[in-house]
Amino acid sequence: MNKIKVAVLFGGVSSEHEVSVVSATSVLRNIPKDRYDVTMIGITKDGRWMEYTGAIDSIASMKWETEKARTAVISPDRSHHGLLLLDGNSVELRPIDVFFPVLHGKNGEDGTLQGLFELAGIPYVGCDVLSSADCMDKAVTHTILEAAGIPMAKWDCVTASDMEHFEDIAGRMEEKLGYPMFVKPANAGSSVGVSKAKNRQQLKEACYVALNEDRKAIVEEFINGREVENAVLGNENPTASLVCGEITPKVEFYTYEAKYQDDSTELHLPAEISPELNEEIRRTAEKAYKAIGCMGLSRVDFFVKRDGSGIILNEINTLPGFTSISMYPKLWEASGVSYPELLDRLIQLALERK
Ligand SMILES: Nc1ncnc2c1ncn2[C@@H]1O[C@H](COP(=O)(O)OP(=O)(O)O)[C@@H](O)[C@H]1O
Ligand SMILES: [Mg+2]
Repeated sequence: MNKIKVAVLFGGVSSEHEVSVVSATSVLRNIPKDRYDVTMIGITKDGRWMEYTGAIDSIASMKWETEKARTAVISPDRSHHGLLLLDGNSVELRPIDVFFPVLHGKNGEDGTLQGLFELAGIPYVGCDVLSSADCMDKAVTHTILEAAGIPMAKWDCVTASDMEHFEDIAGRMEEKLGYPMFVKPANAGSSVGVSKAKNRQQLKEACYVALNEDRKAIVEEFINGREVENAVLGNENPTASLVCGEITPKVEFYTYEAKYQDDSTELHLPAEISPELNEEIRRTAEKAYKAIGCMGLSRVDFFVKRDGSGIILNEINTLPGFTSISMYPKLWEASGVSYPELLDRLIQLALERK
């Protein structure tokens, strides 16, 4: 049997570059080599695309970024159906059957790269252009999921030009949301630019911090809740992982540092919640996934309100962290699907969509 030719992409220009290389290391180690023939493509922080032929274990060191390697780009010309490897004046065409983007955040998880896969006419793992873009933009996610009847935090939206009449805006938000409020860039990720505001002065500062990351910021009511996550897998008929996981940040909220740089966060797996609540989260995760049209995979994050008044969907991550200790693969492992089996399923789901 001919092996399926997979190109795994990692790195990228987003603030989550460092997470991507660790995720990619795990993915590359675990892809079943008897079935898949793997090409590795590293994208540097400044956006150069290169073929990587070194050891998987050296990817996370980021040394490949400074090494001289062949440029490797996806050709949008469908007759090529793959990558163009450029070396001086010579060009090698490498046919590819399926792309596996292991990139988080901007230009990886937001539909832009998915658009290039579509132009090339080559199947790819994960969400399509629209669902990726919709889940990347928190204001759009809110709008779609609210319309679908999914419980979401009360929210509002601000742009840079709104800040010229900040006092009016602040008055409106205070009435609608009350303090504390959570302010976030509409399009970012990994808690970059996220802050909690306890008064009008802090709200103003928080809006500027968020607007520094994106032209639009969203402001939410504070939800006093436990953070519980579910992993969804599938295309039109998705399945939510049997178990949910809980993250407990020991700092005030789940910041970038708490996520990746220190050990101030604990992962609990399975989450200690009642079977009824577990079911409610699973059903809601599947409903939200379908409402937004996700494909392949997504991690759906919730708050379970501490006053017992129910759940709130926080966000959908279409390319969640994929390190061997990340929540998404861990949730599947705990639900009976091993990491290599999960990769296999994801690639098959991509090929089925063709
Ligand atoms: N409305 C909210 N109420 C309480 N905590 C929040 C709220 N929104 C976000 N947080 C906290 O901030 C963290 C990051 O926010 P999130 O919306 O998940 O953005 P990101 O896309 O950057 O992960 C969450 O994990 C949670 O700890
Ligand atoms: Mg989050």
